Amino acid sequence: MQMSTKTETNPVAAKGANSGATIKTLLNDFIAAELQALTGLEDVNPNVITASKPEFGDYQANGVMGLAKRVGSNPRELGAALIARLEAANNPLIDHYELAGPGFVNIYLASEALRERANAILNNPAALINTTHTPQRIVVDYSSPNLAKEMHVGHLRGTIIGDCLARVLERQGHEVIRQNHVGDWGTQFGMLITFMRESEADTNPLTALADLEGFYRAAKERFDADAEFAARAREAVVRLQSGDPAYLTAWQSFIDTSLSHCQAVYDKLNVTLSHADLKPESFYNPQLQQIVERLQQADLLTDSDGARCVFLEQFVGKDDSPLPVIIQKSDGGFLYATTDLAAVDYRSHDLKADRSLYVVDARQSLHFQQVFAVAAAAGFSTEGISLEHVSYGTMMGSDGKPFKTRSGDTVKLVELLDEAIARAFTLVSDKNPELEEQQRRDIASSVGIAAVKYADLSKNRTSDYVFDWSSMLSFEGNTAPYLMYAYARIKSLLAKQTDTAISDDAQTNPRIPDTFALSSEERALLLKSLQIAEAVQAVSQDCYPNTLSNYLYELAGVFMRFYEACPIQGTEAGVRATRLGLCLLAAESLKQGLELLGIDTLERM
Ligand code: ARG
Repeated sequence: MQMSTKTETNPVAAKGANSGATIKTLLNDFIAAELQALTGLEDVNPNVITASKPEFGDYQANGVMGLAKRVGSNPRELGAALIARLEAANNPLIDHYELAGPGFVNIYLASEALRERANAILNNPAALINTTHTPQRIVVDYSSPNLAKEMHVGHLRGTIIGDCLARVLERQGHEVIRQNHVGDWGTQFGMLITFMRESEADTNPLTALADLEGFYRAAKERFDADAEFAARAREAVVRLQSGDPAYLTAWQSFIDTSLSHCQAVYDKLNVTLSHADLKPESFYNPQLQQIVERLQQADLLTDSDGARCVFLEQFVGKDDSPLPVIIQKSDGGFLYATTDLAAVDYRSHDLKADRSLYVVDARQSLHFQQVFAVAAAAGFSTEGISLEHVSYGTMMGSDGKPFKTRSGDTVKLVELLDEAIARAFTLVSDKNPELEEQQRRDIASSVGIAAVKYADLSKNRTSDYVFDWSSMLSFEGNTAPYLMYAYARIKSLLAKQTDTAISDDAQTNPRIPDTFALSSEERALLLKSLQIAEAVQAVSQDCYPNTLSNYLYELAGVFMRFYEACPIQGTEAGVRATRLGLCLLAAESLKQGLELLGIDTLERM
């Protein structure tokens, strides 16, 4: 397998993105250095955060109180001493400081420095979001459906959240290795290929598989009703796993069909997964025996009713009975955990990843805790790798129960997405009846998909969330239509200005001039637009996409306040140029931010 090395030039950096730092990091590093000099301590953290209220400045350093405790001094005195040093250092980024409350340091940025940053970005939009100084190789395991059935709503969240994380990490300059750990190797496939071989005589299997879900149901019915069929199905698994060519061929054709169903969903969803990202469970099959042997050598295996298990003392069930991780069943079969142990080994030792993210349902959290613990105990993971279960809650219907169709079936993902597009079409047609039908269809397919994605990405991923068509498709509130509309509105506002010399110049060579003082709304929009870099950085560390969506929603709000307070038409040249520059900057942040969420913006809506 061909692997690019970590030293290779990073594609984002090569395109001229800025590998500088966010405002927050600059402030934190600057104040940390001064605090170090002041206290003589090495490990100080000024803990700079975005100010929680406008009256606390633009940013605030909250680390002084804790530090004062550590060195046994008065926090306000330490704060005052720090401010004296900071002032003497004369950082051009900062206008002034304020000591507040028990020892907070409020920081007011210099508008001039903000203007300069903004102008640099307007000349090079790639510089809006800086890349990291410490690029890592990061595996993102996401989507990963079982191929026995069609993708259903249960796969929606993992696919959307994982794709957002992959985009964000890549944008930050990390090397992302997507891994679609599809389930293609369990006992279910014995049943499916037996059913397939049987029906091959009278039906074209590809026609039968057009409705994979129906095919699965029919096979399962047959399996449950007919003991002789069930016995053949069990035998088929053994034949398949021992490499019988006829069974492998049947299996492969089933898998190919199922994968084409998945790819259709990915394409519709505008998700970046492709064939090249597949690393199916079957890939690890040749390693599984070895996994057992290595566990044996590490003295971790125990026989329990013929099954080979690992018992770790930190995992206990009810009444403190030890919980096993089953590695191999008594009939020789391997389990989900066995494959995952092989995958940890592969990601650690072959891919040599620094982080491996598992974007998987929260209900599998015990599974991952166990896999990570066994992997560490057996040396399948290296010390250098951070294994992280990026878990998410269940998608609920409006009745508060896991999302189902009216008849109680699981909802096929493809049908859900088509419904989103159909609903968006009605909406767009109501709003813009004058547009050509094709245009309305195009807008609807973007808006419908965006609405579904954004509804998910704007919630804290760890909670269950209620899937609700009307709120996700609303043009008000924290929704995709609202943000996409805000973007389109800025674009049309800018388009209207092309007739004047000033705006022509502002668009081809945009500059926010320093000839007049910014109003509070203008300054707020300037600062907010620049802060996208901080939101993106937070997502890359903590893997909560809602940090970015909340930021975008706030940005749109700040823009609306600016828009109401600051007319563009009929104002003097410098003011107009400034406001146009600010519009361009805000539009850029909205566009780049939505793109990282996997949402394409529309210039007209
Ligand atoms: N196929 C599994 C499921 O549908 C998810 C796999 C997640 N990834 C992993 N490495 N276990 O539940």
